[in-house]
Amino acid sequence: MDQLWHKHAIYQIYPRSFCDSNGDGVGDIPGIISKLDYLKDLGVKIIWLSPVYKSPLFDMGYDVADYYAIHEELGTMEDFDRLLAEAKKRDLRIVMDLVVNHTSSAHPWFQAALRGEAPYHDYYVFKKGKKKGVPPNNWTSMFTGPAWEYVPALDEWYLHLYDAAQPDLNWHNPEVLREVENILRFYLDKGVYGFRCDVINQIYKDSYADGKGHAPSGRGIEHYLMTEGNHRILRKLYEDVFSHYPEHVVIGETFNVDIPNGLRFLKENELDMFFTFEHMGVDRRLSGALAKKFKPEALREVLYRYQKEIPWNANYFENHDQHRSVNRFGSLKMHDESAKALAAILLTLKGTPFIYQGQELGMLDAPKKDPATSTDCATLAVYKLTRKMHLPKRFAYRICNRLDRDACRAPMAWDADEKQGFTTAEKAWLPFADDDGTHNVKTEENNANSVLNFYKTLLKLRQNRLELTEGSFDELPSNGSLFAYRRVVDTKAILVLVNLSPKAITLPPYLRHVDGQLLLESNAGSDPARLDGFGVRLLDVGA
Ligand code: NOJ
Repeated sequence: MDQLWHKHAIYQIYPRSFCDSNGDGVGDIPGIISKLDYLKDLGVKIIWLSPVYKSPLFDMGYDVADYYAIHEELGTMEDFDRLLAEAKKRDLRIVMDLVVNHTSSAHPWFQAALRGEAPYHDYYVFKKGKKKGVPPNNWTSMFTGPAWEYVPALDEWYLHLYDAAQPDLNWHNPEVLREVENILRFYLDKGVYGFRCDVINQIYKDSYADGKGHAPSGRGIEHYLMTEGNHRILRKLYEDVFSHYPEHVVIGETFNVDIPNGLRFLKENELDMFFTFEHMGVDRRLSGALAKKFKPEALREVLYRYQKEIPWNANYFENHDQHRSVNRFGSLKMHDESAKALAAILLTLKGTPFIYQGQELGMLDAPKKDPATSTDCATLAVYKLTRKMHLPKRFAYRICNRLDRDACRAPMAWDADEKQGFTTAEKAWLPFADDDGTHNVKTEENNANSVLNFYKTLLKLRQNRLELTEGSFDELPSNGSLFAYRRVVDTKAILVLVNLSPKAITLPPYLRHVDGQLLLESNAGSDPARLDGFGVRLLDVGA
């Protein structure tokens, strides 16, 4: 199919949890290489690797200590080069994570900065306090607590929008831009296809004035979210680097992006696509600390709005920061049906679909646990805050378990054995996901009706039908739990009908007996006037 490569489905690998080749309980790059045939067979074309760089793993790799080295538990640079070569043989492309809002505090640049050494001191944001013991402003970090850390030897504070172990880079300094451009070229020259750019709409701080309100996290965001300087830097990266590589993709992780800024990212060549966040908030309040009852219509309203306004979307329901979609938007009682319904929406919306490892199996979150044992620095920070606030333990646990990113980072389930084919070690680095032993690759490969085989069918269909990649998104009137839309190219159209609820529904009269060829149905032979609970029907209807 003649199309831009980045329109193909992207599979996200969380390297520590994908496949352990050397029995230390941690996934690694050789493990990824051993599963490339699985990914090829699944039907994805691009693999996005969450960070594999050298890191103290304070934020599990989103704290880079050396951009030019691979973390030793994951392998070596030779392993990485082999991954690129083996992927190429299979016509698969690799996208890396680019984490440059901040580095790790263990990065040699920051260590030199702490000693006050030029030029590195100016690579970061150091400021004098308002007065003794008081930080330069009232900003709070995304992970709660003040966004500044005091350095007695310098009598200065440094900015960290995330943890204190993740000092922010100073994007006002042209040297920082030059360093990042060199990192990009290093990997692009190796044959990496592109980058998923971490919190890339927060890198340029406009001013350091106090923030408004009392938010326990992210206070001050109005001074650094999607600033003009941020747009300028992204354009510069394109001009200086990306435009020199005919084939590349730049994906933005753009926290709380709005539509006008999103359109600018695309129009001005700043990004090829970007992750939106609004749909991830439909079942939660207070940055995820509290739950809100999930209503399919709320999800539909947000998704449709972005579908209509944004020319090319980055569609996702899961990643390493979000709990599993069956837990959130599906049903444990109708596990497979709901995983398939979500797959149908994900893979038929306009845009690039992102599949997070294990999502194609319908994997669930790991069981809840004592938050103090979490490996997630954000959860630990919130837990500390709940203790400080003397919240009842039960309440604190509930909040933390709702946020804990360990839940979706559980190891990938390759088979039904005790260690799920992930490792031979006594213990995997994280506990396994909740499961009855049926949601793993081996079992699902042998079941024609499995979630995995449904994904494969959908991915194949998406590759063979131009409507699903190039087609416009035409919303059809629907209410309740019904998702109804057409994807249209010239005289060809595919009608998508999905019921995102456990209850069967009767279709509105105009959708009851549609003329068209059935392409895919989750429950073969069902009544055309109805959709079963979590039912899916795709029809070729012509335009
Ligand atoms: C977004 C990443 O997805 C998340 O895992 C990380 O904690 C923050 N950015 C900070 O880098």
